Amino acid sequence: MSYIVIKNLKKKLENKSVLKGINLSVKKGEIIALVGPSGSGKSTLLRCINRLIEADEGEIIYDKKNIKDICPINLRREVVLIHQESVMLPGTVFDNVSYGPSLLRNIEKNHIIKCVKDAGLSEDFLEKDASKLSGGEKKRVALARALALRPNVLLLDEPTSGVDPKKVKTVEKNIVDFSKRKKLTVIWVTHYIEQAKRVSSKIANIKEGTVKEVQNTCEFEWEGAY
Ligand SMILES: Nc1ncnc2c1ncn2[C@@H]1O[C@H](COP(=O)(O)OP(=O)(O)OP(=O)(O)O)[C@@H](O)[C@H]1O
Ligand SMILES: [Mg+2]
Repeated sequence: MSYIVIKNLKKKLENKSVLKGINLSVKKGEIIALVGPSGSGKSTLLRCINRLIEADEGEIIYDKKNIKDICPINLRREVVLIHQESVMLPGTVFDNVSYGPSLLRNIEKNHIIKCVKDAGLSEDFLEKDASKLSGGEKKRVALARALALRPNVLLLDEPTSGVDPKKVKTVEKNIVDFSKRKKLTVIWVTHYIEQAKRVSSKIANIKEGTVKEVQNTCEFEWEGAY
């Protein structure tokens, strides 16, 4: 039974057809990787899924509801996007990661620490000024901030770009473990086929605004991509 179903999704940006009829379905707790050339529409698709932008045609069903019928703020608490470029809120790492829970008046320090660790950072980071972190560290704070919301779906836009290569596999493993523990559904955009193979059970190849093919990761053939 599919948890997210995307049907014939189309989107134009400045008169250019960026999404040209995307069809894709994802099961609950599944990690699907989206690969494909630069400019093929991967980030645009993620933005449509949590309604940062509205598709022109087609529909997205999430947990049996059309996302158009869900208040965008509520949708974004459950379906959380980690952007390609991480933007830090003013203040410390703790301020950043506890921001979502603070809106819900529900900050549990242990939960914040756990999320920071799951994102591959040590506890020492909590009191650091978020604006002064490196790009890769900011990426991990953005991931911790998303996990702190206890999402149902994570939309990851190249979550390890800029992350220290020695830390990439740790971050991947933490996300995969988190997904298994919490039945978290993940749509993971990556340019690295090897990463897609390590983390996902299905790989969708996005090309020129359409899903060219979807393959089970265990059967994935490189020739099919790009
Ligand atoms: N705000 C915008 N206005 C106009 N065109 C846009 C806008 N955002 C993206 N585009 C165009 O839409 C196309 C798809 O962009 P998108 O960012 O979704 O690609 P992508 O697959 O995520 O690429 P990358 O792998 O480089 O991140 C590109 O041609 C891009 O120039
Ligand atoms: Mg992108």
